[in-house]
Amino acid sequence: MARLDVRCNVDLPVHVVVGNDANKGITERVSKFTSLSLGGGVIDFTPSLNKNKIVGLRYELPRHGEFEILGEILRFEDNGVATRFFNLNRDAKLKLWDYIKENFTDDLSCPYCGKKNTQKKRRCDNCSWSLNFYSQDYIVEHEKESFIKRLAMKSNAFTVEDIYKVLNFVDVEVLKVGKNLDINEEFVGSSQSILNVFSMIRKIAPTDIPVLITGESGTGKELTAMAIHERSQRRNKPFVAINCAAIPENLLEAELFGHEKGSFTGAVKQKAGKFEYADGGTIFLDEIGQLSMNLQSKLLRFLEDKIVEKIGSNGGVKIDVRLIAATNNDLKSAIAKGTFRKDLFYRLDVFNINLPPVRDRGEDKVILARYFLNKFSREMNLSKTFSLEAIEAIKSYNWPGNVREIINKVRRAAVMSTEPSITVSDLDLESLTIKMDEVASLKDVRSAIEKQKIVEAMKHCSNNISKVARILGISRPSVYSLRRKYNI
Ligand SMILES: Nc1ncnc2c1ncn2[C@@H]1O[C@H](COP(=O)(O)OP(=O)(O)OP(=O)(O)O)[C@@H](O)[C@H]1O
Ligand SMILES: [Mg+2]
Repeated sequence: MARLDVRCNVDLPVHVVVGNDANKGITERVSKFTSLSLGGGVIDFTPSLNKNKIVGLRYELPRHGEFEILGEILRFEDNGVATRFFNLNRDAKLKLWDYIKENFTDDLSCPYCGKKNTQKKRRCDNCSWSLNFYSQDYIVEHEKESFIKRLAMKSNAFTVEDIYKVLNFVDVEVLKVGKNLDINEEFVGSSQSILNVFSMIRKIAPTDIPVLITGESGTGKELTAMAIHERSQRRNKPFVAINCAAIPENLLEAELFGHEKGSFTGAVKQKAGKFEYADGGTIFLDEIGQLSMNLQSKLLRFLEDKIVEKIGSNGGVKIDVRLIAATNNDLKSAIAKGTFRKDLFYRLDVFNINLPPVRDRGEDKVILARYFLNKFSREMNLSKTFSLEAIEAIKSYNWPGNVREIINKVRRAAVMSTEPSITVSDLDLESLTIKMDEVASLKDVRSAIEKQKIVEAMKHCSNNISKVARILGISRPSVYSLRRKYNI
């Protein structure tokens, strides 16, 4: 059978640190690597080591420095013990590969299967491994190829669940699918619509242009605002987020712009507003559609000349803050109704990022669910995966509460499930999954979804009917009539 790594013969001192049994301290011995590969090495000593025992290995690669890694005893060979390396980081791996290349002399035969390669081909005709050792991409290619070959060797023994575990691992940990490392490791998604969002974030972040983020509740508006801030020159200055709907109007003005001492009853000392606090950084105004006309005018003034005025002060102060605003409702209809200033809208809407609802993000539903399951499993020190039915239910549900709902349902499932495999009922998606053997009329399906959506929206908006109507894009009387119809 062909090897999975290039091995070279060496004579390299290595300190082997072994933990003694029954916690009786450690022993360190100096020995030698007689051969090395990226995956492990043979050490020429055979003390009383057991198979699978973990040892510490400290060695110095000439010209590359000292390394300390962990290894596991794999087997005993005639000339020593074969170890497998555990925690080789990228840097240690690249340096080890340089050292192996320097010490690996015979390039007239394939180091994997031994077949003659007098023509110095870049790929072995016999075992098909890449022999392009001196290419810069060799290591990355090699890791991919060896991963696939290792998997192929074991695949006969795999169950469907194992295959899902592997797929999950490959997506999330290896290929980093959905992780856009240059945006924010926490910002998950690989559908075209979310890739467009990432591209907009990249383009707009380095500028000082105001951004208007639109999208349904739970689609990631605040996360997007943070991603913009983190990629801007302002990243070392404050990012201040305010939800305009959560603070009563009379307090919001003082919160945003601050007040002078004695400017109103209770103003016992001067207070800086959030704008001042965010000086040099970014302010994120969520639910901007809820701002009163008075505050809209103050905001407009800020956007025009960068001046903010404390309540009770005679003049303003100049402040350097980038404004990002977000709304989950339609500002254009608010303008038509006269509740939102048109001039402010045009000032804010210079650059608009619209976050698509999760139901329009295709495979991202599953990618997001897997990402959060992995995260919660790690936090809870458990190993959980989704059953095939759970994956199907995740795909077919339309997630009215978007990413926030995925997080809540997956967290609940991780806690509720008693088995390693998460079921549809752990996710609380049971009532929504239409089983193929149950005949459901389109009307029933529509009603079930309608009811579900109203229940979700009522919960999300803490039973505030105006908010529910806004989120669902229907009138308040319609909300009342649907509640009556479904007995909610
Ligand atoms: N693409 C994503 N990847 C990972 N986590 C996400 C993603 N989008 C949103 N989240 C997470 O979902 C939750 C809701 O996101 P966020 O608060 O940014 O949404 P929002 O649009 O501001 O919601 P609301 O309108 O209710 O204020 C947060 O915990 C956020 O970190
Ligand atoms: Mg928000």
